[in-house]
Amino acid sequence: MSARWSRRLCAASLVVALGAGGSPAFAQGPAPAAPEVRAAATVGRMTEAEKTVLTHGIMPLPVGANPPRIPTDAIPGAGYVPGLPRLGVPALKESDASLGVAYVFGLRRDGATALPAGVAMAATWNPDLVRQGGAMIGAEARAKGFNVLLAGGANLMRDPRNGRTFEYLSEDPLLSGVLVGAAIAGIQSNHIISTIKHFALNGQETGRKFVDVKIAEPAARESDLLAFQIGIEAGRPGAVMCAYNQVVGSPACANDWLLNRVLKRDWRYPGFVMSDWGAVPSLSAAWAGLDQQSGAQLDPQVFFDRPLAQAVAADPARKARLDDMNRRILTAIYAAGLDAEPAVPGGAIDFAAHAAVAEAVARQGIVLLRNRDGALPLAATAKRIAVIGGYADTGVLSGAGSSQVQGPGGPALSVPLGGTGPFAAFLSQQYHRSAPLAAIRALAPQAEVVFRDGRYIADAVAQAKKADVAIVFATKWATEGLDVPDLSLPNGQDALIAAVAQANPNTIVVLETGNPVVMPWLDKTAAVLEAWYPGARGGEAIAAVLFGKANPSGRLPITFPASVQQLPRPVLDGYAELEPNFAGDRPTPDARLSANYDIEGSDVGYRWFARKGEAPLFPFGFGLSYTSFAASDLKLKGLSAQFTVRNTGQRAGATVAQLYLVSRHGEAKQRLLGFQRVELAPGETRSVSLNIDPRLLADWTDGGWSIAGGPYAFALGDDAEHLGASQTVRVAARRWKD
Ligand code: BGC
Repeated sequence: MSARWSRRLCAASLVVALGAGGSPAFAQGPAPAAPEVRAAATVGRMTEAEKTVLTHGIMPLPVGANPPRIPTDAIPGAGYVPGLPRLGVPALKESDASLGVAYVFGLRRDGATALPAGVAMAATWNPDLVRQGGAMIGAEARAKGFNVLLAGGANLMRDPRNGRTFEYLSEDPLLSGVLVGAAIAGIQSNHIISTIKHFALNGQETGRKFVDVKIAEPAARESDLLAFQIGIEAGRPGAVMCAYNQVVGSPACANDWLLNRVLKRDWRYPGFVMSDWGAVPSLSAAWAGLDQQSGAQLDPQVFFDRPLAQAVAADPARKARLDDMNRRILTAIYAAGLDAEPAVPGGAIDFAAHAAVAEAVARQGIVLLRNRDGALPLAATAKRIAVIGGYADTGVLSGAGSSQVQGPGGPALSVPLGGTGPFAAFLSQQYHRSAPLAAIRALAPQAEVVFRDGRYIADAVAQAKKADVAIVFATKWATEGLDVPDLSLPNGQDALIAAVAQANPNTIVVLETGNPVVMPWLDKTAAVLEAWYPGARGGEAIAAVLFGKANPSGRLPITFPASVQQLPRPVLDGYAELEPNFAGDRPTPDARLSANYDIEGSDVGYRWFARKGEAPLFPFGFGLSYTSFAASDLKLKGLSAQFTVRNTGQRAGATVAQLYLVSRHGEAKQRLLGFQRVELAPGETRSVSLNIDPRLLADWTDGGWSIAGGPYAFALGDDAEHLGASQTVRVAARRWKD
């Protein structure tokens, strides 16, 4: 353990102690032992039999070919690992929780607050708010008795058709890393362990359990791995969840390079690696760096129980590894204070306060994509408003899969999609109880607001013609386990929008999607809002933006392509050949699937568009406001940048200042280097300073980072495409190891 990590862990344990209300023992007695010191001492007291208790867990649900016996203290959820009461080690009670405490197939109906989708959180570009969201989730989890949250999705959006895009944050390593770190820190402020997941390069759901990702090490280090590295530094998660897919020929959960070398050796990660559910191919995963087998009934065998004990008994050289597995799990338990501050089921939850957090995220995450002639905000004088489609009379859409949250009272509407088997419950479109129609009516009491579900275009058109303004709600559902086939809006919604916009030029489109979509009708509309899956109070947040109670400040965290032809892989690998299969299993033992990420390398998303000179439909970082801003006076000194941002319009609002690398040595190279959300009153000016992480200027070469000295050009951007004048400065050569 490096001194650096020890210091960090000491700091973490101190925070834990103070957070616990300044426990007198900690405040007045000798300094508490660092978590890893305590962990080593506990391992020293373990019997050999006890050493394979923490190393594997079950899914405490009646699923799998051999459903396990479910202990009485287990809570229905994703995972359970028994504790060691003799040694004061608590059981691990695990729930999915990226967007809120998940409801697991509807088996637990206790209700939880749903934050907006991960992409919506990322669209706020606001780490403080994302941290509050994490703290909110952690508080609810604690009140339900969970102490490990399977949260922190940090995979980059390499393909806009990825079915889990909504759960993740962005396509950029800095933005994803900073925000996932904030979410994790928020969760862990509740004496709860959070994961960061899915390590790594889990870029598509199609064939997710066997797709082999090809990528050269430098490209991986500068993109997806960097997002995890920054996230781990910022959030210090107790656990890392490895992914389903293979990385350069070996499963991510049995991948010596990823787990032993990158994560544990290079990054000196002191916590533990848990597997994804059903991702462990064999006992060899233990030697490759996996510390805990999760939901073991979903794997071919419970490898990390008897087989692990036997392998260690047969080869004493393996003993140190088994001790290391236990030490890492215990280090995470002690660092988060799971034993000192146990989570007890039955705690009170302040749902109203938590809904306010969800609404704040939704308000800041909604992105105004188009606003012809200031069509928005809607005038309080509108007399007749036609609201069309998207079940806007009922609620707001959510994404599905293990991250699905159900609010108190369950969903307002659940549309089953005909799945069978244990995952059937995942295959339903669920709408949270937050109807945009009611929220619009509340903010336009003088207007006649009519609703049409949009199933008949002629009917919607007739209503649109009679109205001052038509608001069309368009949805695109996505789920873990399945990718979406293309970038269209399903169910004829494109035709509906085109017809309504033709009938009434004052047509506003509100998108509830978890992925980018193309907009063949865009030029005919007056305004477009991307509201994502907006969570527990999404309807209220959408109405607030429509009527100007909230000034939109969201910025796209992902590029919206104009077509799939612009992507590195216009055809999604395996999509056409494989039957839709939620689990993503190999259809036959010899089936093979690979995805070549070396096409774009570390130029993911906007970096790829810049490299190819392609213009997307909407660029990364894009978003309009009801006011206007100007950023200027960029000055660079060493690795720090300073500039000013001014609100040049008539309304208070927030913008996201974005600093980009433009070129190195005269060669074009675009990377986001820093960002800052700034709230400004009309006419107000603020100066902003950003520190640049040198890894963002560097290349990964020969086992380390290196910056070639010379001229580097930087620019402020409204987004990745609209950049201001660049400033060129000489950057000194530098080479370093992680
Ligand atoms: C997902 C994980 C999740 C786990 C437990 C898996 O299918 O990939 O994100 O944490 O299930 O529910």
